[in-house]
Amino acid sequence: MPQDLKQTEQQWLARIDDASDLAALETIRVAALGKQGEISGLLKTLGAMTPEQRQIEGPKIHSLREAVTEAIAARKAALEAAELERRLATERLDMTLPVEGAPQGTVHPVSQVMDELAEIFADMGFAVATGPEIEDDWHNFTALNIPESHPARAMHDTFYFEQRDPGSGSGAGAAGHRMLLRTHTSPVQIRTMQGQKPPIYIIAPGRTYRSDSDATHTPMFHQVEGLVIDKGITMAHLKWTLETFLRAYFEREDIVLRLRPSYFPFTEPSAEVDVGYHMRDGRRVLGGTDHWMELLGSGMVHPRVITACGLDPEEWQGFAFGCGIDRLAMLKYGMDDLRAFFDGDSRWLKHYGFSALDVPTLSGGVGA
Ligand code: DAH
Repeated sequence: MPQDLKQTEQQWLARIDDASDLAALETIRVAALGKQGEISGLLKTLGAMTPEQRQIEGPKIHSLREAVTEAIAARKAALEAAELERRLATERLDMTLPVEGAPQGTVHPVSQVMDELAEIFADMGFAVATGPEIEDDWHNFTALNIPESHPARAMHDTFYFEQRDPGSGSGAGAAGHRMLLRTHTSPVQIRTMQGQKPPIYIIAPGRTYRSDSDATHTPMFHQVEGLVIDKGITMAHLKWTLETFLRAYFEREDIVLRLRPSYFPFTEPSAEVDVGYHMRDGRRVLGGTDHWMELLGSGMVHPRVITACGLDPEEWQGFAFGCGIDRLAMLKYGMDDLRAFFDGDSRWLKHYGFSALDVPTLSGGVGA
């Protein structure tokens, strides 16, 4: 009997060694260890033995089973490794091949409008600037002439980060400033003036955040900031720039602007800009002077803001403006519910989205 078991083991180990693939190995496993398998059969014989016999034979049969089980596991690992090697060597994906079928996604109207803005302003010599969405209160407020106690801070419904010990983490900026989600794109004015020498001609489109939510407000929304810093800049430059921009954007020559005196802490004088519109078939259509709607805020950059950025306001002046992008998109492309912009509903995206190939160009029409 011991001889037989040794032989049995040798035979199984040889078969396992010969298994050329996982399927063959599985067949062997079933034949040896499966319910009807040979080794399982041997284990069953233990029941009929006397206790003395069982004490001698039991360990031998168990050790046979263990040896075969281990050999199968080892062979399986080797076959799997070889299979992986083979696939790695043969399966190659040619990333240069064109995809089959049309791409499914669309460009979100907000992205499209941002591209349109960049294109229009590039034609007037403006570069695109960016800044962080997680800001500190110095860039978002203080440097923009909105000191700690200023009522405008309260009006911004700011999302603040939890305050930690100064300098110990995300709650505080480098100089111990409180961290927040930027409430407007105006801090990019500050970062740009600090980071580059005038003359400066930039727009800064991007996400902004306020704790506000209803049919016309979402906690995250988009703005575009404009900033010009140069010598001899006046309100006339501001008005011409905005008129040229809006005529190109809405693709209408009859866009009329009205500058209304207003107040922003970071500009002096400040002006709210209204755009004329008329009604056609119950819809507002931009152009003409029948009615007016408020479109954006603007003004001459306040000397204190210029000073805060380390520039001499006697030497450098400029204008700035800030405008909601979502609103611009709605007016041009006819959506009427802001909240749908950020629902991620694929039907909405399919309807209002743009093809990835609809790249706005001035010659091809920024309307896409
Ligand atoms: N930052 C202002 C806001 O979010 C908008 C604004 C107004 C920006 C006037 C400007 C400006 O640059 O000159 O309400």
